[in-house]
Amino acid sequence: MDAFTDALQGWDGEQVTCRFDRPTGTWIFIASHSTALGPACGGTRMRTYPRPLDGLTDALALGAAMTRKMAVAGLPCGGGKAVLAVPELLQGAAREGLLERYVDLVESLRGGFLTGPDMNIGAADLDLMAARSEHVFGTGAGVQEGRTISDATAIGTLAAIRACLRHRFGGDALRDRRVLVQGLGGVGGELVGLLVAAGARVLVSDVDATRQAELVGRLGVEPIDAADVLTTPCDVFAPCAIGGVIGPEDVATLAAPIVCGSANNPLRTAETADALGAAGILFAPDYVVNGGGALHAIGVETFGWSSSLVLERLEAIGDTLLEVFRLADAHGVSTAAAAERLAGERLAAARSTGAAGRHGATLVEGTA
Ligand code: PHE
Repeated sequence: MDAFTDALQGWDGEQVTCRFDRPTGTWIFIASHSTALGPACGGTRMRTYPRPLDGLTDALALGAAMTRKMAVAGLPCGGGKAVLAVPELLQGAAREGLLERYVDLVESLRGGFLTGPDMNIGAADLDLMAARSEHVFGTGAGVQEGRTISDATAIGTLAAIRACLRHRFGGDALRDRRVLVQGLGGVGGELVGLLVAAGARVLVSDVDATRQAELVGRLGVEPIDAADVLTTPCDVFAPCAIGGVIGPEDVATLAAPIVCGSANNPLRTAETADALGAAGILFAPDYVVNGGGALHAIGVETFGWSSSLVLERLEAIGDTLLEVFRLADAHGVSTAAAAERLAGERLAAARSTGAAGRHGATLVEGTA
């Protein structure tokens, strides 16, 4: 005592729900970071971690990022994230049992936490969870014209990449731009397809060799060794996997003028953002870039947005990003600090109108 108490004490969020799931040996952490703008909302991630503590710290940081993501996206929700820190990726009956017990725990929060997909949690898992809960996004019912939450996140990420190109090079054409996508899961894999369709020269990397080979074979993209992702020259480095992939010590050798991907919390430390700025590397803050999933989930499943409205909101992610870059230039701060300022303003406005702390409130359109 300890790293656990230190992690909890150092966190500025509202509540952590924690349970050890004995049948599977899984630590469950639900980090409800903020209900200032509405009920805490964020995906559920299944992952192995070196220690349970690493799962907790991941949940805490991811939950905080969700609060900023919702605020910047203009959604009337707070932020949270759930981590299922499993001893190994579970399948079959063990997986189903864990998900059922986990979603019962979510239900016990009575709408204070709403959840959906994240790393290693997909539509089949969410369908199973939704059979026992009304607080689950990303089921089959949430697919719009074939678009899932992951697809929407990829579309928003593409709009963000275009905004970066415009800011950095004066034009947003993707033709012959070299874009390196790290992580070929639900979002990264879809992003690769969009980039190829737009004429980009795409380089791909994944720790899962089979997944990488499949995409290389199907789309003719260029494979990159996991060890070489940061040092391979490209126009855009798009981290779309786990967080913490760029630390301050990587900045000197990073061979991309733009970092813009869908991964949550890709920077290892807060100082990394300043180091990137000092090196002249344009960093697109992750929670601005990857808000497309939340926009789609809440827009389609709660507000009943039309397909064209969803697409409009996904495209607008590019405009928000350009506004962040403008703020950063105007105030001489990092792009990360500028995005935080934007999120902070919206949260402060909600607090001053007394909207804070609506734990368990229902989602209402137009209140953010
Ligand atoms: N997990 C995704 C994210 O980090 C998408 C998501 C958002 C899922 C909101 C559910 C709710 O943004």
